[in-house]
Amino acid sequence: MIIGLVLVWLLSLVTGTTTGVCSQSAPKAIIPQGTIQGFHDSSCNSVFLGIPFAATTGGQNRWRPPQPLRASTSLFKAETYGPTCPQAVTNKAFSKQDEDCLNLNIWAPSSGENLPVFVYMYGGAMVTGSNSNPQLQETILPAMLKAAHPSESQNFSILDVEKALQWVRNNIKAFGGDPDHIVFGGHSSGSVQVDHYLWNHPKTWLKGAIMMSAIAVSGPAYSPINEALDAVSAEVRCPTGGKGQIECLRNIDFFSFETANFNSTFNTWFTPVVDNITRFSDYTYRFAKGEYASHVSLITGNSNGEGTVFSIVYGSENTDFKSWIKTFDADSAFLSNCSLIHAYSPKDFASESLRSGAQYGDARFNCPVDYLVDMRSEKQDTWLYRFYGKYDNVVGLPNTAPTHGTEVPFFHGGNECFDSLAGVTASQQALANHTHQWFVKWIKNPAAGPGWAKASPKFGAFAKLGVPGNELAITVGNTNEYNLRCQAVYNHRFSHYAVIQSVLGLANKLNP
Ligand SMILES: *[C@@H]1O[C@H](CO)[C@@H](O)[C@H](O)[C@H]1NC(C)=O
Ligand SMILES: *[C@@H]1O[C@H](CO)[C@@H](O)[C@H](O)[C@H]1NC(C)=O
Ligand SMILES: *[C@@H]1O[C@H](CO)[C@@H](O)[C@H](O)[C@H]1NC(C)=O
Ligand SMILES: *[C@@H]1O[C@H](CO)[C@@H](O)[C@H](O)[C@H]1NC(C)=O
Ligand SMILES: *[C@@H]1O[C@H](CO)[C@@H](O)[C@H](O)[C@H]1NC(C)=O
Repeated sequence: MIIGLVLVWLLSLVTGTTTGVCSQSAPKAIIPQGTIQGFHDSSCNSVFLGIPFAATTGGQNRWRPPQPLRASTSLFKAETYGPTCPQAVTNKAFSKQDEDCLNLNIWAPSSGENLPVFVYMYGGAMVTGSNSNPQLQETILPAMLKAAHPSESQNFSILDVEKALQWVRNNIKAFGGDPDHIVFGGHSSGSVQVDHYLWNHPKTWLKGAIMMSAIAVSGPAYSPINEALDAVSAEVRCPTGGKGQIECLRNIDFFSFETANFNSTFNTWFTPVVDNITRFSDYTYRFAKGEYASHVSLITGNSNGEGTVFSIVYGSENTDFKSWIKTFDADSAFLSNCSLIHAYSPKDFASESLRSGAQYGDARFNCPVDYLVDMRSEKQDTWLYRFYGKYDNVVGLPNTAPTHGTEVPFFHGGNECFDSLAGVTASQQALANHTHQWFVKWIKNPAAGPGWAKASPKFGAFAKLGVPGNELAITVGNTNEYNLRCQAVYNHRFSHYAVIQSVLGLANKLNP
């Protein structure tokens, strides 16, 4: 089961607000799986929520690639968010969990055809998240029910995302969209999925992509195939490996599958593994062979304090930097211990946790993106941003902004994201309007770029977004303002990622 992904916007909406009563009848789209009936929002946009893009992942479909929907002429009322995929996090902001969770939402203007399409994949470390979450992003926390068939790999979430994109390509015309003008974006693990898509479809029809914060070498970490499945099997009294295991596990109710092991941080046990089919061990080599979609115009970037929120998230294990860098969660075993200890001098950080958080932010987010620019920007039109807006109400705790995820609602123009936040200020909304405006303009013509100089390998141009005191100006800096650690410590080591770490010791501690 998986990520029930995705929002799809058809533009010109979102910025356009026609006020007044919307008198037309409910919007409908006729597609092979049936007639989809949505509703109009207060700005007269057509909204379709919870449209299935694949069959349920329950029953015999559990731990199988996404299965197609049957053709039908029946009516589907797309009026409420669809279910959230099974996961350990109980988040009241999400719709209820169910295995029939492969669904997406569409927002479109009430009229128009052949409109540019933007598809957004939310983040959540591939272990949590929901397309019913108006904040459109998650911090990293427990767990997605996502395990391996002994003869397959844990690559189903990647296949689910591919299925959703293909659904959009096949069906979006009926909603007024242009199947030949699709831009795909995501944040955090949603961005990792965008990158997987580009690696797995070197000749893709995508017109543009935005990868916010993360790329394929951002992780998440994983444990050896089936270690986690065996640990959870033992808890639910199924065979630990071998014949009959999957059959037994398919008969366990998914809430019962959310065991102590499953709910622990060990959920990353179940994230995609390197199979050299959908997730690769050597991206430099693949890039050299031309097995990457470098014809797709790309925006990528980070917030200026990616790791700060993680100094809190991992607070229980990161108060000693020397031991932190060896933990499963730090996922940094491809880096030398000495180089890390020297690169993060204690005197530069107010606390040991902040030191660890900064390291995490570099290892997972800043340096993977910097490595992406080094590798691809010579061949691929790439524009780089860094977000400085200091808005603590978006994510994390006071004084952590800008951190991982702070920029996300701004790209979406505020909208539903801001409706779910407290204390949104006028200048915050103004920055969201401004960001959304150039972003939408770029989605309409990705090849033209967002209006600032292209990125280049090692040291080159990047746009400063939301700089306090000068928020609505986009100024261009040089990446040497922030990437020296990436260049010195990380980038030449990414070919040694991903790291596979056994978690049996952790499991034994949890369930002695
Ligand atoms: C695990 O988390 C789920 C929420 O998703 C909850 O329903 C379940 O009771 C939890 N199980 C354990 C053993 O804590
Ligand atoms: C992973 O995904 C591919 C489809 O791209 C599928 O053919 C394969 O069976 C899956 N499992 C493995 C081990 O690659
Ligand atoms: C993937 O391919 C690399 C070589 O490019 C190899 O070293 C590695 O063992 C392969 N991994 C798997 C899981 O097949
Ligand atoms: C870092 O330290 C750990 C534990 O002391 C050791 O197992 C590991 O090999 C070291 N890593 C490197 C790259 O030196
Ligand atoms: C943001 O844009 C909306 C829609 O165009 C507009 O109504 C609103 O006044 C703008 N807010 C600010 C603070 O600029």
